[in-house]
Amino acid sequence: MAKVEETQISPLPTHVAIIMDGNVRWAEARHLSRLKGHRAGTENIRRVVEAFGKSGVKYLTLYAFSTENWQRPKSEVRELLQILASVIGRETREMHKRGIKLRHLGRLDRLPPRLQEEVLKSIELTKNNSRMTLSVAFDYGGRAEIMEATRQMLRDKVSPEAVDETLFSQYLYTSGLPDPDLIIRTAGEMRLSNFLLWQSAYSEYYFTPVFWPDFDTEEVRKALLAYSQRARNFGA
Ligand code: IPE
Ligand code: IPE
Ligand code: MG
Repeated sequence: MAKVEETQISPLPTHVAIIMDGNVRWAEARHLSRLKGHRAGTENIRRVVEAFGKSGVKYLTLYAFSTENWQRPKSEVRELLQILASVIGRETREMHKRGIKLRHLGRLDRLPPRLQEEVLKSIELTKNNSRMTLSVAFDYGGRAEIMEATRQMLRDKVSPEAVDETLFSQYLYTSGLPDPDLIIRTAGEMRLSNFLLWQSAYSEYYFTPVFWPDFDTEEVRKALLAYSQRARNFGA
């Protein structure tokens, strides 16, 4: 019998968001440094983006660095920033060739100025691509996002009566993105850790014990298959 292809899984989520967790535990299990764990996790991004792209998922969002992750040791934070810089440098062209549009969710202003420029350049270069939208949540926090949206509405002097869910959504970092249909978290933890608080109202969750660097094409297929078997009611 022919192998079941990803493309045959139905229904597919339009938007998948991933909490990429377990880099350090992956490294510890191998007696490697935390840095090696983060590098392996970063290497994995390309393969997962490709797998979701091939399956036909239109929006992929990756949680790479939370507003709380600044509390990690300085050297680790520095490494994570460096990894982001090198990935952007190395991967943007490749993503662009594959028709991927890049977005950033979160605060840019606390990143090193050169990195901010690189991020903005990548977004600009890929802005007209339409095969898939890849959003990277870096210095992202759900509470900060909601607070910042509120501040901006007040600055804009939006009248209280004009505030509805549609308008509110437009003030979030995710403005224009559909809500995530499926949220995946690797490495066994079952929490949101401040990810997409507003947007996850009716998301399906998929948790796996697999550490992020080991989350491969077959794991992608399993997550999509699990999603396809869920019954979504949206309260109706
Ligand atoms: C996820 O892996 C990467 C980031 C949060 C930046 P962790 O670094 O949280 O690894 P674990 O969860 O401690 O194993
Ligand atoms: C969540 O992972 C943030 C990212 C994956 C970027 P953490 O490892 O930081 O979350 P907690 O601390 O276990 O909740
Ligand atoms: Mg973790």
